[in-house]
Amino acid sequence: MSPTTEQQWTPTHGEPYRPVPYRPARMPAAESLARAAALRETMGQRRTVRQFSPDPVPEQAVRDAVACAATAPSGAHQQPWTFVLVRDPEIRRRIREAAEHEERVSYDGRLGEEWLAALRPLGTDAVKSHLTDAPALIVVFQQRYWLAEDGTKHKHYYVDESVGIAVGMLLSALHQSGLAALVHTPSPMRFLREVLGRPVNEKAFAVIPVGYPAEGCEVPDLVRKSLEQVLVEL
Ligand SMILES: Cc1cc2nc3c(=O)[nH]c(=O)nc-3n(C[C@H](O)[C@H](O)[C@H](O)COP(=O)(O)O)c2cc1C
Repeated sequence: MSPTTEQQWTPTHGEPYRPVPYRPARMPAAESLARAAALRETMGQRRTVRQFSPDPVPEQAVRDAVACAATAPSGAHQQPWTFVLVRDPEIRRRIREAAEHEERVSYDGRLGEEWLAALRPLGTDAVKSHLTDAPALIVVFQQRYWLAEDGTKHKHYYVDESVGIAVGMLLSALHQSGLAALVHTPSPMRFLREVLGRPVNEKAFAVIPVGYPAEGCEVPDLVRKSLEQVLVEL
């Protein structure tokens, strides 16, 4: 498949260094503290949802969240990501069918006992109804390399890190817009490139159902590490 126009656009290829002024107004410390505390409280309420209502979500809020994700920093500013927003019920059905096929093999032994034991407290199994219940899926692809018009490949750097950061920002934006999400990583997920007709330089990273929690939705009772456990101050 030939690369699309936007894949050929990579701003740092061949550009000279061209600085522009950056002078954001400095926020007063009191406002920083208030905003940080409020955001900590808001983000503390985010949970992964696996039981979705089929109710539609405000579509522009999802697009805005993707636009937020696309402001993420990336290795050499190569922005090695594609977000495919799938609302079409037939495509979601096909994704679910293929994902459940892989998940059945995984849960029937491919994962190994240690991995299965790690998953047990989450209560997950091979049934992935969120893929058809949630009104939208955002399928995130990594662009492992950039394909020039003449077909030559140009390596992208720090693709895993860059896309991981972008997905973190996406989840944050969705949550702050009042939408629930799940990072679903069926393994292997090669089928996603085929089902969604993506080019060869793209590799699926995650499927993110987006919507509202179903009535009666439950989540596992998990404990987060405390700040003291995760922060080392020297
Ligand atoms: C990289 C990654 C992969 C994940 N894969 C799956 C998955 O395939 N299926 C699933 O149900 N949850 C998946 N999760 C969600 C985690 O299980 C969830 O974030 C974790 O249990 C913490 O719960 P919380 O998000 O509610 O805080 C994944 C999360 C991450 C970050």
